[in-house]
Amino acid sequence: MTNEKKREEQAARLEQASPQDNIKEALNEFGSEIAISFSGAEDVLLIEYAQQSGVPFRVFSLDTGRLHPETYQLFAAVEKHYGIRIEYCFPEAIDVEALVHEKGMFSFFEDGHQECCGVRKVAPLRKKLSSLKAWVTGQRKDQSPGTRTAVPVVQIDPAFTGVNSGELIKWNPLTNMSSEDVWMTIRALGVPYNSLHEKGFVSIGCEPCTRPVLPGQHEREGRWWWEEASQKECGLHKGNIEK
Ligand code: ADX
Ligand code: SF4
Repeated sequence: MTNEKKREEQAARLEQASPQDNIKEALNEFGSEIAISFSGAEDVLLIEYAQQSGVPFRVFSLDTGRLHPETYQLFAAVEKHYGIRIEYCFPEAIDVEALVHEKGMFSFFEDGHQECCGVRKVAPLRKKLSSLKAWVTGQRKDQSPGTRTAVPVVQIDPAFTGVNSGELIKWNPLTNMSSEDVWMTIRALGVPYNSLHEKGFVSIGCEPCTRPVLPGQHEREGRWWWEEASQKECGLHKGNIEK
């Protein structure tokens, strides 16, 4: 059986499993060669479930240098609450310097977010993933009607490679949870959360590129709102965009 087929079968089997069981299976399979990718939003639930599993786990965050103060505060609160250290990944200073020197601090409003995201998020992510065999994301089907409706529980990463440029496995254990499920669980378990959520923010990314949404608006409308819905992937999950 090809590796692809094997993962598809695993994904089909886990489609009905709980997010807790999915995370446990991921952590048990990959040990110290898997890490949770934590953005500082409601994906904090990944960390809660990892802790509940009793299996040791690693967490990394991409510090773009443009996150909200509230997000940095959450990182600190999470480290304290769970007794962990987050592995922060920073962009290459030389690349950030070149970009802002050439185009200023807000180039993304002029010519799109891809270039800045490329320097501040995607390159550091690529570097981090090249030291791993698998990663865990907080992507969910309900997050983005344009791009995430088919996110499986587990897949071979369509965009990045792992150790020695080998196959990288991408786990999305929360994919079948709704926003309501996630929030009910966070509140019921007393999980620390980003205080921006109390100010109308639903989906949270970098400060200049995130805004609160109005009642009834989709959460993704608060991200890169000046761009087309079908393009709202910053490159971390670009395999979601149909070619
Ligand atoms: S994004 O691609 O549009 O920025 P989104 O904010 O929806 O992604 O988050 C989906 C998942 O991508 C998160 O749950 C997390 O696993 C990963 N992710 C996004 N931003 C970061 C970040 N700054 N650091 C680490 N992981 C991130
Ligand atoms: Fe740059 Fe905005 Fe992308 Fe953050 S979300 S890396 S500020 S373009």
